[in-house]
Amino acid sequence: MKIRVLGAGAGGGFPQWNCNCHNCHRIRRNEMTGSRRTQSSIAVSTDNRNWLLFNASPDILKQLEAFPAIQPKQGVRDTGIKAIMLIDSQIDHTTGLLMLREGKPLNIYCSEMVRQDLSTGFPVFKMLEDYCTVKHHSVPLDGSSFTIPGIGDLRFYTQSLKSKAPPYSPHRNDPHDGDNIGVIIEQISTGKKVFYAPGLGEIEAHVLDAMQSADCLMVDGTFWTDDEMCAQNISLKKAREIGHIPQSGEGGMIEILSGVAKARKILIHINNTNPILDDDSEPRKILDAAGIEVSYDGMEIDL
Ligand code: MLT
Ligand code: MN
Ligand code: ZN
Repeated sequence: MKIRVLGAGAGGGFPQWNCNCHNCHRIRRNEMTGSRRTQSSIAVSTDNRNWLLFNASPDILKQLEAFPAIQPKQGVRDTGIKAIMLIDSQIDHTTGLLMLREGKPLNIYCSEMVRQDLSTGFPVFKMLEDYCTVKHHSVPLDGSSFTIPGIGDLRFYTQSLKSKAPPYSPHRNDPHDGDNIGVIIEQISTGKKVFYAPGLGEIEAHVLDAMQSADCLMVDGTFWTDDEMCAQNISLKKAREIGHIPQSGEGGMIEILSGVAKARKILIHINNTNPILDDDSEPRKILDAAGIEVSYDGMEIDL
């Protein structure tokens, strides 16, 4: 299978429009080694023609233009996007649906909780009824498997995990199963598996099992430290409070990944405040030594 990272950034992207943090300031002035990142999305395919899109980022139009394999191939209107899976109802993962309104009915795979948020607090499913329309398909929350018509040779296993519903959701401080999911993507013919979870607030036993079974992990890379945004006077919120395990420190993602021996390890959904965006930073050296990669826009993984 091929995985294309359409956007490796977290909400706001990098640089963020109104941000003057250490990273955003320097990338605008070409004063750091690193690259800009659009907001959180990947696409997966086994034939390089028919793609499952994961999340629909506010930056989707730019991401699709930068990726010829997903562009129209035949007829006057066409797309390589055959279905869309949403891992939560966060703004950085769903706003791009509005940008796809000119197309055919959107086949959207997501949890019942996400469907509710996207029909009430941010009623994009309802709004699209007067444009392309949405066909919603509920995903299982217990890790059981399913396939998606038009997406050949792939099987999916979805499970509920602990991260956070968006601030606009009634579930922000009242978590429900399915507010956030993790996905194992398995190529049926080869048995190769990727585990994708851009928001991970806690590693429950079933999440660790999924990680252990995968050949490649694409997991939450949002923050380096728990107090990263507080330390830069950007927000009072800690990483863990908003559903993201930081990389460094006790119980951090580096420690967690060190217990998962066999997989290729890739961080995704990286916030603009995170020092790992600087290729020359000390944190980046620590990740290199731990065998952990940092994803970037346009990265392709062949598995
Ligand atoms: C998050 O995952 O916490 C976000 O990136 C928040 C956002 O989209 O603003
Ligand atoms: Mn996000
Ligand atoms: Zn910034």
